[in-house]
Amino acid sequence: MKLFKTIDALKNYLDANPNMTIGFAPTMGALHEGHLSLLNRSKSECDLTVCSIFVNPTQFNDPADYEKYPVTIDKDLSLLEKAGCDVVFLPSIEDMYPHGTIELIQYDLGNLERVMEGKFRPGHFQGVCNIVNRLLDVVMPNKLFMGEKDYQQIAVIKHILSITNMEIEMVTCATIRSSEGLALSSRNLKLSEQQKKQALAIFNGFQLNGPDEIRQNLLDNGFDHVDYVCCADPETLEEKPFGDKPYIILVAAFLGGVRLIDNKIFK
Ligand code: PAF
Repeated sequence: MKLFKTIDALKNYLDANPNMTIGFAPTMGALHEGHLSLLNRSKSECDLTVCSIFVNPTQFNDPADYEKYPVTIDKDLSLLEKAGCDVVFLPSIEDMYPHGTIELIQYDLGNLERVMEGKFRPGHFQGVCNIVNRLLDVVMPNKLFMGEKDYQQIAVIKHILSITNMEIEMVTCATIRSSEGLALSSRNLKLSEQQKKQALAIFNGFQLNGPDEIRQNLLDNGFDHVDYVCCADPETLEEKPFGDKPYIILVAAFLGGVRLIDNKIFK
C-alpha cells in the first residue's frame, strides 16, 4: 500500500500508471466496515483503489463537532492495508485549501440545500462539494464509491458531477449495519454501549406508522433532540405523503450530544 501526503506526490504516482482504471473512496477516517465495503467494491471493479482520509473542516457547521470528530489514523491505516487498498491519500489542510477555508466556491444545489441536512447544517454541503471537487480533480477516478447512509450527500454529489461534466461514474453502496440494525458510522465511536442500544430506535422506527410516530419513539428512547424525520421521494428528495411508495424515510437526531443519521427506502 502506497501512502501519499501531498497532491504532487500522489499525482506523480497516478501519472506513472496511466492505463489503470481508478476507483476512489473519499473518507474522513475513523474507518469501519461501511468504508471497507466501498473499498472491496472498488477493488472488484477497478485496477487501482485510492482511499483518502481528510477530516474536512469546511463541512462542519459546528466547530465543536469538528473538534470532537474521531481520529484513529493508525488503526485506519492498518485496516486499509488489510483490506488491500492500493493508495492512501492523507493531505494537509493547506494542500486541500491553498486559498484558505473561508472563501469557498459556491455551488447551486437548488432544493437539496434547503431541506433536511441542507436546512439543519447550513453550509455543510458547500463544504462537501468543495472538498469532493478538489479531491476528484486530483485523483481523477473512473469510479467514485460512496455509501447510502449519507443519502442526501449522494444526491448532492451526483448533481455536482452532472453540472461539472466530469466523466466519473458514481457507485452507491448499501449501508452496512450491526447485526441488530445500527447503521455503522464513525460517530458511533462516541456512543456508550448503552447508547448504542438506545440508538437502535432509529432502525426499529422504520417499521412505525409515519414520521410523527418515529419522532416520538426516538424521544421515548432517550434521544435528546430530533432534527427531522422526513418522508420523501427517493429520486428528488421532495417531501411526499407517508405510505405513497416508493418513498424514503430519512432521520437525523441527537443521542448524548452525538448526531446520528440514517434512512430506509420503501419500494
Ligand atoms: O462522507 C464523508 O465522509 C464526507 O462527507 C466526504 C465525502 C469524505 C467529504 O469530506
